[in-house]
Amino acid sequence: MAPKTLFGLLIFLFLLVSSTAFSFTFHGFNESNITREEKAKIDNQGRLELTRRENNIVGHAFYNESIKILHKTASVQPKVFSFSTCFVFSIVSPSAGPGGFGLAFTIAPSTRFPQAEGGHLLGLFNSSNDMKSSNHILVVEFDTVNGYKDDTDTVGNHVGVNKNGMSSNISEPAAYFVDGKKEEFNMEKADAVCVWIEYDGETEILNLTISPYLEPKPSKPLISEAVDIKSVMKESMFFGFSASTGKRKASAHYILGWSFALNGIAPPLDYALLPKPPPKEKHSQSFPWIKVIIGMLSALTFNLLCLFLYVTLYKRYMVFETLEDWEMDCPHRFRYRDLHLATKRFVESQLIGVGGFGSVYKGVLPRTGTEVAVKRILRTPAKGMREFAAEIESLGRLRHKNLV
Ligand SMILES: *[C@@H]1O[C@H](CO)[C@@H](O)[C@H](O)[C@H]1NC(C)=O
Ligand SMILES: *[C@@H]1O[C@H](CO)[C@@H](O)[C@H](O)[C@H]1NC(C)=O
Ligand SMILES: *[C@@H]1O[C@H](CO)[C@@H](O)[C@H](O)[C@H]1NC(C)=O
Ligand SMILES: *[C@@H]1O[C@H](CO)[C@@H](O)[C@H](O)[C@H]1NC(C)=O
Ligand SMILES: *[C@@H]1O[C@H](CO)[C@@H](O)[C@H](O)[C@H]1NC(C)=O
Ligand SMILES: *[C@@H]1O[C@H](CO)[C@@H](O)[C@H](O)[C@H]1NC(C)=O
Repeated sequence: MAPKTLFGLLIFLFLLVSSTAFSFTFHGFNESNITREEKAKIDNQGRLELTRRENNIVGHAFYNESIKILHKTASVQPKVFSFSTCFVFSIVSPSAGPGGFGLAFTIAPSTRFPQAEGGHLLGLFNSSNDMKSSNHILVVEFDTVNGYKDDTDTVGNHVGVNKNGMSSNISEPAAYFVDGKKEEFNMEKADAVCVWIEYDGETEILNLTISPYLEPKPSKPLISEAVDIKSVMKESMFFGFSASTGKRKASAHYILGWSFALNGIAPPLDYALLPKPPPKEKHSQSFPWIKVIIGMLSALTFNLLCLFLYVTLYKRYMVFETLEDWEMDCPHRFRYRDLHLATKRFVESQLIGVGGFGSVYKGVLPRTGTEVAVKRILRTPAKGMREFAAEIESLGRLRHKNLV
């Protein structure tokens, strides 16, 4: 090739590239150029809601004009133009159990997917056309369910790059690099997830980077691998999103903002201009536990209080009629209850003296009306019992004209 011709070709290529440069940015989706199919809608905060939390539904949303992505010439091999995109999504899964099934950044020849199934097929394929090259669909999936059967699948939380179906060509658990260290994170639990996809048409390297909302863009992509997508692309393709729920698992899937550039770097999103991530469903599982613990503790406290009151009140007002050894030989035994009544509950006004072991009260026995003096022993130390018995004994021996 003569240098002149080569120069001409380079200029031609430059013109071609610059003429196809194109970009758009959506901070929220109020009045956006987005076509929506199936259950997708714009909510009252300007979020693009692909699916709500309802079983067995799908939602699609695409930029409403197709984009010329493949450069075809008679002489040269067809070449995919470089593109770059950046978006923020948020998943609201049910409070109990896992949600599903995820969403997909989708490049497809049409914005409609008749007879496509939800669940694992994300509203893009059905069991008979899954993985058929005639689909011409490139999928970057953000999947939250593993496995292929609704009954046996488990929590997923992975990203993947798929050609024409749901078997991933490249797949990685959801993670991002912080200071060179890989940190996994849960896409369903994060307030929102930021995604950057860059495809270099020359090297055919696809970079996929994700991070939890409001973290800076990680400098190292999660996936950076060569993916030949020439055969998947048609000359003009639609760019957008698809999401689905399943028979048992249903999450709400939202896109908060999206930017895209063909042959250039996607304009960065200004997070301050985005609608707020939707509120997460409260994990009510933790609340019953707290309630149960609080309930148990308060019941326990109440019981202890009752026991305490019972013991103190019982000790104070109830009278134990314990017959002690020395009482066995006594001719007469007065019940504490009667003495209590006789002295009008040991009131101050009945007090006639204070002695060594206690106080002496004047009283009248209720049954007989006899006047008595009652000695009340306030404290009975172990030794005191013997002294008390001695006192009784000496009292018995006393002879005095004033004593009967
Ligand atoms: C939306 O579409 C109109 C008409 O095609 C175009 O003028 C406008 O720039 C588009 N807006 C965005 C954000 O792409
Ligand atoms: C895309 O949407 C914009 C705004 O609603 C509209 O002006 C434009 O005509 C649409 N383009 C196509 C191809 O439908
Ligand atoms: C979208 O419109 C709604 C009202 O229709 C408004 O409350 C909301 O703030 C708007 N969102 C954005 C991002 O402009
Ligand atoms: C699967 O989808 C294709 C394309 O829409 C359709 O032709 C085919 O009939 C569908 N198959 C089933 C089993 O639904
Ligand atoms: C992924 O794609 C590459 C290039 O197209 C191919 O060589 C490889 O076999 C694919 N791997 C899987 C698992 O599909
Ligand atoms: C993809 O990532 C690699 C490794 O970080 C980087 O060297 C390359 O420039 C990236 N490509 C694009 C198109 O951003």
